[in-house]
Amino acid sequence: MGGDKLKILILGAKGMLGADLLEVFKGNEIIGWDKKELDLTSFSLTEKKIKELKPETIINAAAYTAVDDAEENRDLAMLINGEVVGNLAKIAKELDIPIVHYSTDYVFNGKNKEGYKEDENNIAPLNVYGESKALGEKLLQENTDKFYLIRISWLYGKNGKNFVETMLKLGKEKDELNVIDDQIGSPTYTKDVAKLTKEVVENKMPFGIYHAVNSGKASWCGFAKRIFELAKIDIKVNPIPTEDYPLPAKRPKNSILLNTKLKPLRSWEEALEDYLNN
Ligand SMILES: NC(=O)c1ccc[n+]([C@@H]2O[C@H](COP(=O)([O-])OP(=O)(O)OC[C@H]3O[C@@H](n4cnc5c(N)ncnc54)[C@H](OP(=O)(O)O)[C@@H]3O)[C@@H](O)[C@H]2O)c1
Repeated sequence: MGGDKLKILILGAKGMLGADLLEVFKGNEIIGWDKKELDLTSFSLTEKKIKELKPETIINAAAYTAVDDAEENRDLAMLINGEVVGNLAKIAKELDIPIVHYSTDYVFNGKNKEGYKEDENNIAPLNVYGESKALGEKLLQENTDKFYLIRISWLYGKNGKNFVETMLKLGKEKDELNVIDDQIGSPTYTKDVAKLTKEVVENKMPFGIYHAVNSGKASWCGFAKRIFELAKIDIKVNPIPTEDYPLPAKRPKNSILLNTKLKPLRSWEEALEDYLNN
């Protein structure tokens, strides 16, 4: 579908997801900005530059994504993941254009083993990053009605540091590895999120909250084992509990995002195989 070319502003264009968004939206008139082109924490400059540009859609993939560092950089995380989103939503409303924004499974506390639907209202983050993303969700919804809030989880892609690349590196260095086995989530490929975003935008789907994750679930340990299997790396992987691998930020135990509104994405195993083959 689609037809008409859209003038789309992609923010966070050099990030892991942003780079894939630039790729899939080719054919439209794309403007990709990252921190160098515009620091989103300068609110008035952001407003001036976007109003001059007059895009027809804003896609915000910019974020503060260092989950553990956020524990010590609360103000910056809340600014970039929270207040910046409110400012962008205000600008989108004034221009009367849609805005796409991404959030995370980490806005939930992970106590619900069944998984979280799009309309779940028990937003109860366990760490500062989750709190900052929850503030972004709130300010987005308060400042405009024309929003797509797309929650994603356990992201990997070719343009950023991620769990898959960490495992491949460790696989070359070690013959045994301990990996957390009591946190469950849905590993998700940026390429699939980018493609789904394009469908949502071009098909003018109803505004609201969506969950875009690869189908199925795994623990970090299960995810790691599959990476090594597919990459044909011979390594012993030992399952360990969260307590045995302490990190500054607390993580949810069960952060399954249920996708009840969009067509399901392919399984996480299939997506991972595609990523590793490319
Ligand atoms: N990664 C995950 O596992 C995961 C999971 C769930 C949800 N998400 C969400 O998915 C979205 C995309 O994540 P990602 O992993 O692709 O992020 P990423 O690779 O960290 O990219 C974010 C981009 O935003 C830029 N940025 C940061 N501060 C900025 C500022 N003040 N002004 C302008 N640009 C700024 C960053 O530039 P610098 O690098 O120069 O700072 C970077 O290029 C985010 O909303 C994230 O919260 C991610």
